[in-house]
Amino acid sequence: MRSWPAAALIRAKREGRRLDAAQWQALAAGIAGGVWSEGQIAAFAMAVAWRGLDAAECREFTFALRDSGRRLDWRDLPGPVLDKHSTGGVGDCVSLALAPLVAACGGYVPMISGRGLGHTGGTLDKLESLPGYDVNPQPGRLARVVREVGCAIVGQSADLVPADRRLYAVRDVTATVDVPELIVASILSKKLAGGAQALVLDIKTGSGAQTPAEADAQALAARMQAVAAGSGLQLATMLSDMGQVLGRTAGNALEVQGVLDLLAGRPRCLRLQELVLAQAARLLHMAGLAASEDAALLRARQALASGAAAERFARMVAALGGPADVFAQALPQAPVQRAVTAPAAGVVQAIDVRALGECVVDLGGGRRAPGAAIDPAVGLAEVRGLGEAVQRGEALAIVHARNVGDAERASVQVRAAFAVGEVAPAAVPAWHWL
Ligand code: URA
Repeated sequence: MRSWPAAALIRAKREGRRLDAAQWQALAAGIAGGVWSEGQIAAFAMAVAWRGLDAAECREFTFALRDSGRRLDWRDLPGPVLDKHSTGGVGDCVSLALAPLVAACGGYVPMISGRGLGHTGGTLDKLESLPGYDVNPQPGRLARVVREVGCAIVGQSADLVPADRRLYAVRDVTATVDVPELIVASILSKKLAGGAQALVLDIKTGSGAQTPAEADAQALAARMQAVAAGSGLQLATMLSDMGQVLGRTAGNALEVQGVLDLLAGRPRCLRLQELVLAQAARLLHMAGLAASEDAALLRARQALASGAAAERFARMVAALGGPADVFAQALPQAPVQRAVTAPAAGVVQAIDVRALGECVVDLGGGRRAPGAAIDPAVGLAEVRGLGEAVQRGEALAIVHARNVGDAERASVQVRAAFAVGEVAPAAVPAWHWL
């Protein structure tokens, strides 16, 4: 590979000139190999923030990131490799139920997931509520679990897209996390390196989303499609509403409990269940495991109702070092539980979902500094949804806290996040496919 001085590539982007495929490959290799300094990576990220990338550049950049490390090879599996990504939300525990459900229907799901970002929760943090669960298995163990169970939800290993690992760390501290081209390349390079053949991308909108405005979410979806089109990856994009908490809980062990209830046939929130089923059906149909989306949906419903998805989840957890019987496992419980009550009767008119997410972080359920420990037990339960009627004194949510002081502070935040009044809000679809 020809090498290009970092400064020349940064200057080209600073001046709005295009880089070609060979230059993108050199750039990604330079970042992954430690040749580029953090300062150079930061200057590059900021140049992209100001100048943007056209669709072809974004695609070449994505492929270059993908090629900066190991690529997972699943060619010996007897079924399609399927995956999903969500831009993150509050109470969004879809992945935990979706992976075993798709596995129970014949798909293979090696799902490389992340940790909480800002006010949004992270799948790996949730799984670590289960004692012993190994989110960083050796490659051999990961391959074995995917082959034998059909799914494994794990973290990104050091050799998978190493250029993105460095780039992301720099973006995090240089106000370039929200640059659309960098987001697209970061997400899709990891999905491509992970070997997915079909992917559902769930872009959240509304007050609890990273992209609250629908227009921004639509634009992100279009960029993703433009890159995926040339990559061999089948991509389905949906916008889903984060104007209310997804499910009834927000917080790590609380969300895992919600997923266990869903898989055991006791869903606490039909919106969550139907979203999981819709994503599963789309993946199964895209992969040719069902002749139509209706047939796929029926198959997914049966796998949920029969307990087949629950069985896959239990096997995945045990195979990755978690409890031998996750459905019999007591999850971490917070010592203080306090109901936050409605000040007057009415309907829930609006919810500041971001504020609820921040509240969970403040309780200790998320991080304020990279690498900080989190408390798996804390969070919010029995969270009300939009349009629900409440009587004066009824709970809007139950705060689960480590101590009374935290519970008091959180109660104030939760009360302020809910608007209760007389007129019901207009109904918003829970999701729609693009
Ligand atoms: N945003 C990114 O840029 N990368 C990720 O992996 C997730 C969100």
